[in-house]
Parts: sequence; structure tokens; C-alpha cells
Amino acid sequence: MFRATAEQIANSELSRTLQDALWVVPVSQSIHIIALSVLFATMLMISLRLLGVGSAGRSVSQLANSSLPWMWRALVVLLLTGLLQTLIEPVRQFITPIFWIKMLLVAVLALLTRWFSSTVRANAAVWDSPATRPAQARVFAIASIIGWSTVIVFGRFIGYVWAYYL
Ligand code: HEM
Repeated sequence: MFRATAEQIANSELSRTLQDALWVVPVSQSIHIIALSVLFATMLMISLRLLGVGSAGRSVSQLANSSLPWMWRALVVLLLTGLLQTLIEPVRQFITPIFWIKMLLVAVLALLTRWFSSTVRANAAVWDSPATRPAQARVFAIASIIGWSTVIVFGRFIGYVWAYYL
């Protein structure tokens, strides 16, 4: 998929300069992993709270308001480091279908999280009480846990399957 474009990017001066600096990919990949840990931990805290697991010390809206900014910051770091790696090794990303599925999943999950953020802000009292919390809370929590876990698995798999598409 999109091999010609990928080869063009790989042959650009910027990509070639970055390819020659051998430390860039491992450093960027490490930052990618640290950022995904922040995103996943934040997501898990909120999702487990919505599923009724763990501490009920803070209300759902308080937890969402204080935690979600960390999730968005982590996502920005993931986007920047991910784009950097794509710029340096575009062919292995562009030819691998799971790279594109991962990107689609990230976009869908980000939109879902934005919906959650604005809904909780607008209806804090309804979401804070277990008696009135809408059924979508559980659906959102389960979709988030499965969805972000799948993104991690697919991200990890790219490196192992891309050669089959050469
Ligand atoms: C936001 C846009 C993102 C972009 C453009 C992106 C891009 C990339 C790229 C290019 C790689 C290297 C794959 C390879 O060549 O082996 C990668 C690896 C990875 N990504 Fe992402 N990524 C993004 C977001 C995420 C998110 C949100 C997660 C998890 C929540 C994630 C998890 C991973 C994992 C686990 C790896 C493998 C790390 C390793 O093998 O050491 N990525 N990503």
C-alpha cells in the first residue's frame, strides 16, 4: 500500500539525514513507549472507575477532568514520535496493513474519548452517581480497554510482520 509515496519519503534529504543518525529511532521509540504507558494508565484508571473497580474517593467527573489532560498530552507525544519514526522508516509502515488499522483505531478511540470528555463535563451530576450513570459508561470503558490494548499489540506487531509484505 502506498509504496511509491513511502519510497519518495525515504529518499528525501530529511529522511536520509535522520536515517544516518542511528540513535534517533531507538530514542524516539523509547519516548513512544513512555508516552503510551501514561496514556494507558490514565485510560485504565478512568475505565476501571466506570466499571466500579477500585477507589471511589473521587467522582467520575473529577477523575476525568484531572486525568484526561494527561491522556491528550501523551497522545500528542505519541503522534510526534510516531510521525518521526514514519518519516525515517516509511516503507515498513506504509506497506503493512496493521499500521493503517492502528492509525484508524487511534483516530476512532480519540474521538470516543473526546465524546466522553464533553459528555461528562456537560452532565457531571448524572455521571457521578452510580444510580443515574448511563449504560454507555460501561460500553465506553470496555471499548477503551480493548481498543487501546489492540493499538499496543498492533504497534508491536508491525516490526515482526512488515517483511512479509515486501
Ligand atoms: C498517534 C499516532 C501514532 C503514530 C503515528 C504511531 C506510529 C508508530 C510507529 C511508526 C511505530 C514503529 C513501528 C515499527 O516500525 O516497528 C510505532 C510503534 C509502536 N506504537 Fe505507535 N504510533 C501512534 C500511536 C500509538 C499509540 C496511541 C499507542 C498505544 C497506546 C502506540 C503503541 C505502539 C507500540 C506498542 C509500538 C511498538 C514499540 C516497539 O516495538 O518497541 N502507538 N508506532
